[in-house]
This record gives sequence, structure tokens and C-alpha cells, in this order.
Amino acid sequence: MKVTRYSEGCGVLISDIQLADLSDTQLADLRTIFAEHGLLFFRDQDFSPQDHLQFAQRFGSIVVNKFFRATEEFPEIAEVRKEKDQHTNIGGGWHTDHSYDDIPAMGSILVARKLPETGGDTQFANLANAYDALSPKLKSLIENLRAVHSNKHLYGENGLYRMTDLAEHLGGMDRVGDATHPVVIIHPESGRKVLYVNPGHTIQFEGWDFTESRNILDELYAHVTQPQFTCSFKWSPGSVTFWDNRCTWHQANNDYQGQARLMHRITLAGSALTAA
Ligand code: OGA
Ligand code: MN
Repeated sequence: MKVTRYSEGCGVLISDIQLADLSDTQLADLRTIFAEHGLLFFRDQDFSPQDHLQFAQRFGSIVVNKFFRATEEFPEIAEVRKEKDQHTNIGGGWHTDHSYDDIPAMGSILVARKLPETGGDTQFANLANAYDALSPKLKSLIENLRAVHSNKHLYGENGLYRMTDLAEHLGGMDRVGDATHPVVIIHPESGRKVLYVNPGHTIQFEGWDFTESRNILDELYAHVTQPQFTCSFKWSPGSVTFWDNRCTWHQANNDYQGQARLMHRITLAGSALTAA
């Protein structure tokens, strides 16, 4: 197994490995690399839906997304699908998966199934590095805060996605809800401090005036999206990405109108988050 940096501060590319055929030693090595980097890219994988499921089950336990359609074959595999004639995509803004749950998802394993000829990259951000580089003033301001995370504004009645042509592909309107989490968490495996707010699901700091918290959140978001903390992954057939939702953000570029794209996602369960 070979590990190379994907960008300056975001992601590693793992080569000389087939996820469908991992030895126990390779799996243990992968766990260590995942804990350190939180964002793994793989190329040229021979990885059927069955292999996807088996790898996920070996790595952890699976949680099923409440809103996306699953494949017919496996209820554990969510389809991240955009049809040729559809305009809105899934995950088109910076977010982390399932932060609206009391116990948010640990990771997500995304597999390319049908790719557009051009576009459709996924962008990622490293929230542990971004936290480290915050000014001491911002660090102390957010130190003991908690934030409210929700999905109602996206998937609920009159939610953003319900107003688009994505609506017919989504279920779970009645499963919306929210949760609160510390704004700075300790990553359970790496022990690093991580900024745990995201543009997609974080509504506001708990107990704060909405506008005041919006101003600080916007400042934090502008910091995270700087090039030194982000990277863009160009998919090819056989590509797989595996990210840690506790210390990364991602967003899917929607720059391939008129073409279809289909990805398969399995989400892995996490544990309750601990304040730094
Ligand atoms: C997801 C997601 C991004 C993409 O599966 O959680 O946001 O590029 N997907 O499809
Ligand atoms: Mn996502």
C-alpha cells in the first residue's frame, strides 16, 4: 500500500491496494491512515456494490440516510443521483454528512458509478488544519460554544431541496430534526481539535442572537474555504473516496448540466461528540 499526499493540506491518495480484497493487516493500516488524515482517495478499484457493503461492514457499522433513495439491491447503499434533465444536485454546498443527528455519522464511502464526461468533481476541506490556523481571538471566542444543526431548512416542508427538481428523488419529509454539538470537538481517534460547524446544516450558536452568530459563522466559513485547507477530487471510473465526517467538509460541483451522474454512498455510524 502506498500513501501519497493529494494536496498541500487535504487528503491522501492510497494506491497499490484493492478495497475488495484487503488483508486484515491492510485494514488495520487503513484505520491508522484514516484516523490521521480523515480523507482517503482510491483509484482503479474493482468494487461492486457487494464489495462496497462488505468493506463498510468490515470498517464499522452502517447507518442509513433518511432522505436519499437506496439501491434496489441494498438498502444500506444510498444513491447520490442526478439525472440528465435534472438541475439541482445532492450536496451542492459545503456540508458534512448527518451533523443534524445527535450522534453524527463517522464517515462516508462514496463510489463512482456513472460519471459525466466533464465536471462533477467533489471538493473537500480539512477542518482540523483549519481549526489550528484560526486566530487566537477566534479560538477563544468559540471555545465553549455549542451550535444547533438541522436538516429542516433542506428536507422539511418548504425546505430548500423541496422547492427544486431534486424533491421527487427524496423521501423522509417527516424525518427532519435537529441536534446541538460543541463548536470545537476533540477528534475521537486523532485527539486533534476540530472546528465542527458547517454551512449546510449549522443554524446558529446555541443561545446567541441569530445575526451575531451568523457573522461569526461566516467568518469561520471564509477561513475554512481557503485553498490551503481544501482540495478538489476529479473522479474517474473505479474511484472511491472515504471521508471522516468529524473533520472534513465536502461539496459536489454542479457543473455538468445535461449529463447524468450516479454515485453510491454508504455511511458509517459514529459516536457522541466530545467538546474540546
Ligand atoms: C454525499 C455527497 C458528494 C458528491 O454523498 O454525501 O455529498 O460529489 N456527495 O456526490
Ligand atoms: Mn454529503
